[in-house]
Amino acid sequence: MTPLQQFYEEIKDCRKCGLSKSRTHVVFGEGNPRAEIMFVGEAPGEKEDIQNRPFVGMAGKLLTDLLAGIGLKREDVYIANVVKCRPPDNRNPQPDEIEACKPYLWKQIELIKPRVVCTLGNFAAQALLDKKVAITKVRGRHFQVRNFLVFPMLHPAAALHQGNLRPALLEDFKNLKQFLGKGIEPAPQPEQMGFF
Ligand code: URA
Ligand code: SF4
Repeated sequence: MTPLQQFYEEIKDCRKCGLSKSRTHVVFGEGNPRAEIMFVGEAPGEKEDIQNRPFVGMAGKLLTDLLAGIGLKREDVYIANVVKCRPPDNRNPQPDEIEACKPYLWKQIELIKPRVVCTLGNFAAQALLDKKVAITKVRGRHFQVRNFLVFPMLHPAAALHQGNLRPALLEDFKNLKQFLGKGIEPAPQPEQMGFF
């Protein structure tokens, strides 16, 4: 078992916060365990909770398309969320839930060792920058955090709810492509793909 798989086994029955009462699955994340680029969303939605996979609903389809648009496949990157369990009715995660779950995200980052962590939306940007930042202020810039760079982007779901944000979201991905340039190649594919 890889250390990442082992870590999933450790937390898959987590009851550290109240979200454990209503969730179906602890949606750990998926992708390349040696990814250079990680994407971090907010929390699982209904489809994610049922399927035990991140970003598989409408926002997920958009994310997959945006990745394809800059030449990346989901399997090239690692996709996770700040909070691993679905908040009831998709409400925002609460500060105590984020605090309870955040160490798991840090541990995932420590094990995957990405060079760039793209945060999707306000919650992920605030969690990794450890500041109450507005995504509209920080998008388009990048920040050194520990041994990786944080690259804040709009959340794909925001552009689904507010169509006028779509051009800005596309711009974020275009900027990411430029930022990655030729310097960052997708990590080699592991023998074992799928959940981890
Ligand atoms: N799906 C996820 O897994 N995370 C989000 O933030 C939104 C949809
Ligand atoms: Fe545990 Fe995180 Fe789920 Fe809360 S959201 S129960 S801390 S895995």
